[in-house]
Amino acid sequence: MSKPLVPDRTVAGRKREHLRALEKDPQIERRQSGFEQLRLTHRALPELDFDAVDTATSFLGKPLAFPLLISSMTGGAGDEINTINRSLAKAAETTGVAMAVGSQRVMFKEPSARASFALRDVAPTAPLIGNIGAVQLNYGVGADECRQAIDTLRADGLYLHVNPLQEAVQPEGDRDFSKLLEAIEALGRALPVPLLLKEVGAGLSGADVERGYAAGIRHFDVAGRGGTSWSRIEYHRRAEDDDDLGLVFQDWGLTTIESLIEARAVLREKADGTTLIASGGIRDGVDMAKCVILGADVCGVAAPLLSAARVSTAAVIAAIGKLRREFQTAMFLLGCPDVASLKSNTALIRRSVEF
Ligand SMILES: Cc1cc2nc3c(=O)[nH]c(=O)nc-3n(C[C@H](O)[C@H](O)[C@H](O)COP(=O)(O)O)c2cc1C
Repeated sequence: MSKPLVPDRTVAGRKREHLRALEKDPQIERRQSGFEQLRLTHRALPELDFDAVDTATSFLGKPLAFPLLISSMTGGAGDEINTINRSLAKAAETTGVAMAVGSQRVMFKEPSARASFALRDVAPTAPLIGNIGAVQLNYGVGADECRQAIDTLRADGLYLHVNPLQEAVQPEGDRDFSKLLEAIEALGRALPVPLLLKEVGAGLSGADVERGYAAGIRHFDVAGRGGTSWSRIEYHRRAEDDDDLGLVFQDWGLTTIESLIEARAVLREKADGTTLIASGGIRDGVDMAKCVILGADVCGVAAPLLSAARVSTAAVIAAIGKLRREFQTAMFLLGCPDVASLKSNTALIRRSVEF
């Protein structure tokens, strides 16, 4: 294993180090979200015209060409990060999908980072979602800062990410996660757009969703285990060479599949108006179809689209086009003419066969 980086403790410096760790360590991608365990029933007689299979849906009151969200990733000062965010936003607008930005806390430390979140000019109609760490509500971020985050992006919603594992492993982590639900409830009442609660790769449990719902949250992104491991990313920033906490916890948490099943069980009991977002290791349109079958309204993809954004806007558009074709093909082969017939249709899952 490589030597630790000497951690840069500025918020922007940290972001750059995360990107560097992702570049140099392919095992940050864990490939353990559980999708391979779920098998679907192929229909040799789908009784459908492929071209009539309708992948369209909606999210936060806006239309989507298919249920994809570019998950929260970056933002900050400097040309590299600015270009990445603008590429992602342009691609979201062109392909008719949603986009979330990375944590906007950096805006309050470095005002020049604001430009990387001002994306409405390139994405006038796409659903855009802001992002702040929920724990920051215990470290001086309040409703005013969240309003600024929303206004800069002209956002349709604000993600509050909960990342206790990442903060526990991070050398300079903010670890006071006490009394957050109270703060979240008060914040939700003060903001003009909905709050969405998300993990960052260790999954929301049913109990988390239940508590979030009681605090007024109606939109949940499970961000489960199995794709990008934040514990392993932070391991690269450890202060001491022999500190292996980030490796011990690299596969901690609920898989995306486990989280979805628990979250759906909780939300099924609630009134309409909730959104369930699947993310964490979704890598193709078949994974997306499986998430929708398990109750997801929208599917988030992060790391693979970042790699494409480092190449060009056209590369992001091509990567999204590929996901859409795969998703449509899966719908066709399952005999589902529209997203409504796929959604929560667990009869499409194969149970073990007895002879
Ligand atoms: C480079 C990178 C940066 C990320 N930054 C954030 C962030 O600032 N805020 C957040 O809520 N999630 C962040 N995430 C987590 C993703 O939004 C997502 O929840 C998680 O990585 C699972 O997606 P994936 O397996 O498709 O990468 C980041 C992910 C990546 C890959």
